[in-house]
Amino acid sequence: MELAAGTGQHSAACAAAFPDLNWQPTDGAEAALASIAAWRDAAGLANLAEPALLDVSAPGWGAARAGQDLVLVANLLHLISAAEAKTVLGGIGQALAPGGTAVIYGPFRRQGRLTSEGDIAFDADLRLQDPEIGYKDDTWVIRSASEAGLDLVAVEQMPANNMCFIFRRQG
Ligand SMILES: C[S@@+](CC[C@H](N)C(=O)[O-])C[C@H]1O[C@@H](n2cnc3c(N)ncnc32)[C@H](O)[C@@H]1O
Repeated sequence: MELAAGTGQHSAACAAAFPDLNWQPTDGAEAALASIAAWRDAAGLANLAEPALLDVSAPGWGAARAGQDLVLVANLLHLISAAEAKTVLGGIGQALAPGGTAVIYGPFRRQGRLTSEGDIAFDADLRLQDPEIGYKDDTWVIRSASEAGLDLVAVEQMPANNMCFIFRRQG
């Protein structure tokens, strides 16, 4: 299951890359679903499901979707408050089957620090829009995920100074 799939471009790429997974794209915005559906139609993949509306800042979303083998969320946590991000991580913990994998991608602080000029400017811009949102710290993500029953497997440094966290749901 993919959260906050946006355009759906990643959905099509991931479904093609992992043909043994049934890929369920979701997003909290009704407007995103048409774009995800268009990418789905263009891809023509049997393992890529119709997009579903899903607000992952709403408590209880994870339990309602329990049994997932994998949950991916890219480029969301910096756009929402820490309280909402906790709900996302808690929901992932509830949505995943024991042993399931969580993949969390995006821009983050590293041990409290913003580590590029671009990140400093982007984070400041986000906080100007809404003081509650902005980059989350890598240590906060790992601690919050642990509280949600997710064990850290790996942290990958990605292009454009992004990070990718891989977690496994405790059995
Ligand atoms: C920057 S886009 C990221 C899209 C895609 N994951 C990517 O990396 O290109 C952020 C997406 O998060 C979605 N979003 C924001 N808040 C959400 C929420 N509470 N629940 C689900 N989706 C949400 C928006 O509708 C938007 O499509």
